[in-house]
Amino acid sequence: MKRIIVALAAPAVVAVLLVAAGCASLATPEAPSSGSPAPGATSAAAVTVSQQVKDGAALYVAFACIRCHAPNGVGGVPNRLNVGGDDTIPALNNAFRDPSEAFHNAAQITQVMSEGSIVSKKPGVINMPSWKGVANDAQASAIAAYILAGFPQASGVAYDADPATAADIYSAYACIDCHGQVGANASPAPAPNPLSPDKAVPALRNPGDDVTQADFMTTIMEGSIPPPGKVSELLMPAWGQIMSSQQVAKILKYIPDGPKGKALPAPAAAPALPLAGGSASPAASGSPATSSSP
Ligand code: HEC
Ligand code: HEC
Repeated sequence: MKRIIVALAAPAVVAVLLVAAGCASLATPEAPSSGSPAPGATSAAAVTVSQQVKDGAALYVAFACIRCHAPNGVGGVPNRLNVGGDDTIPALNNAFRDPSEAFHNAAQITQVMSEGSIVSKKPGVINMPSWKGVANDAQASAIAAYILAGFPQASGVAYDADPATAADIYSAYACIDCHGQVGANASPAPAPNPLSPDKAVPALRNPGDDVTQADFMTTIMEGSIPPPGKVSELLMPAWGQIMSSQQVAKILKYIPDGPKGKALPAPAAAPALPLAGGSASPAASGSPATSSSP
C-alpha cells in the first residue's frame, strides 16, 4: 500500500525539487537539468528505496539540512560573509563533490552531524550546527543512508521551498527541533545542550523573559556561535542568508517573549518525526540504535 502512495507521489516530488532548484533563493549552478539520479542508481521509474532511506529523506527535510545544503544535496547555497573561507555551503551528494572528497561510509556523515563544524564566529557566517541530542543515532544513520544512496527521488517526501505560515516556518527551519514547541509546557521540549552554560537550548515565547524583538532579530540573522574548534555544542545558526525577510518577520511575531507571547494561542501538537523513538529501521544493520533523548 505504501509503495503505491510513493509511486504516485514521486512525479510530484520531482516537480517540487525541480521548481526549488530553479528558485532564486537557492543557488544550484550544477543542478542536474532533469533530476537525474546519481551514478549507480537504478532508472528513475524503477527506484525502490529502503524504509531507512525514505526516513532519511524525510529527516533531511525536517532537520533543515535541505535549507542549507539544497535539494538533492547539490550545495552551492551562498555563505557570502565567510570571507577568506568557502563562500558557498558544500554539496553532500557525491555526484557534486570532488571524487577525492566523496563520502564512502555513514560515519563520515554522522560524525559531522554530532560534532558540527564551526568555521567562524563572525556574525552572519553560516556554520554547520551540531545535532547532538536533537537527531538520535537512528535518525542520523537514516540521513547518512539517504546521502550515501545518492539522494534518490522516489521517497514520497514533500518539500515546501517557501513555507508561508509561521508554524510551517518554525518546522521547516528546524526551530522546533532545537527550541521545542513554542509556549508554556509545550511538546517537544527544548533539546538538551549540556556543553552550554544554560545546559539546554532556550525555549522561545517565554512569558517570564523579556528579550526584545530587536535582540531576537539579531540572533536569528547573525546566529550565536561558540568558538571555532568547539565540538558538539548546539549553536544557533545564522539564518540571515537562508531565510527570506518575510519569513523572519513572520517568525518574530510567532516567538515573542513576555505578555505578547502569552496572549498568543497555543499551537497544535507537533507530529512526531520518523525514528523519533530511536528504534532502528529494518535496514539499519550494524550500529545499534540508541535514543539520545531521555
Ligand atoms: C544552518 C545551515 C546548515 C544546516 C541546517 C545544516 N548544515 Fe551541514 N554544513 C553547513 C556548513 C556551512 C558546512 C561547512 C562547514 C565547514 O566548512 O567546515 C556544513 C558541512 C556539513 C558536512 C561536511 C561536508 C564536507 O564537505 O565535509 C556534512 C556531512 C553536513 N554538513 C551534513 C548536514 C546534515 C546531515 C544536516 C541536517 C541534519 C546539515 N548538514 C544541516 C551548514 C548547515
Ligand atoms: C541547531 C539548533 C538550533 C536551531 C535549528 C535553531 N536554533 Fe535558535 N538557538 C539555538 C541555541 C543553542 C541558542 C542559544 C544561543 C546562545 O545562548 O548563545 C539559540 C538562540 C535563539 C534565540 C535567542 C533566544 C533568547 O532567549 O535569547 C532565538 C530568538 C532563536 N534561537 C530563534 C530561532 C529560530 C526562529 C529558529 C528557526 C528559524 C532557530 N532558532 C533555530 C539553537 C538552534
